[in-house]
Amino acid sequence: MTVHVQFLGHASFKVQSDYSSLLIDPFFTGNPYACCTADDFIALDAMLLTHGHFDHIKDAVAIAKQTECEVICGARLADYLVSQGVKAETISVMASGETKQFLFGKVTAVPAVHDSQIHTENGDIPGDPPRGYVVEMEGHKVYHAGDTALFDGMKDFRALSIDVALLPIGGTYTMNADEAAQAAALIAPRVVVPMHYDTFPNISADPRAFAAKVTSGIAVSILQSSEKETL
Ligand code: NI
Ligand code: MN
Repeated sequence: MTVHVQFLGHASFKVQSDYSSLLIDPFFTGNPYACCTADDFIALDAMLLTHGHFDHIKDAVAIAKQTECEVICGARLADYLVSQGVKAETISVMASGETKQFLFGKVTAVPAVHDSQIHTENGDIPGDPPRGYVVEMEGHKVYHAGDTALFDGMKDFRALSIDVALLPIGGTYTMNADEAAQAAALIAPRVVVPMHYDTFPNISADPRAFAAKVTSGIAVSILQSSEKETL
């Protein structure tokens, strides 16, 4: 069955099949490349949050409240969301390294190398170890790296036969284009999609330069906000 991976700007993606729809790292308010707003989400099966930085959770509370979808995140981020009025019973806490089966498919929280604090309206609070996610839905595997540096453990993802890897290339805070190309070589997905660049001046990057560095045999799909990769 077909699965669509839609880029919504920055690190936000929607993953959708005929039966299920997931949202990853919603950041629409204040995102110059957002192609939608929180109000556009009426029904969702789940929302996955990689870490508590504003550019990954900005619209998470609003969307969790209005959809009452399953929210997948770390324990401290879960506490914060509950403090903001998200229903605790809708949250599924996952530790990095853990795999859980859901009705829509299987999710594994995988490590990421990045900062962990949660950005709140009243300043930063301690967060969870940051993570990425491998989502398996309708026989397709999507890896969202979250914000991460290049790390050796990415070579372990090769055995998972990832269909599409969503990798940050912005350089500040995360891998740059060179490092993301090295990551792609370690992971060996069928398709790689660059993300987390150009949203702010300090993460400007050229996705075509990234594409030129990616090992032949891995397709590079440069998506504009709202465009989809179909698996
Ligand atoms: Ni971050
Ligand atoms: Mn970020």
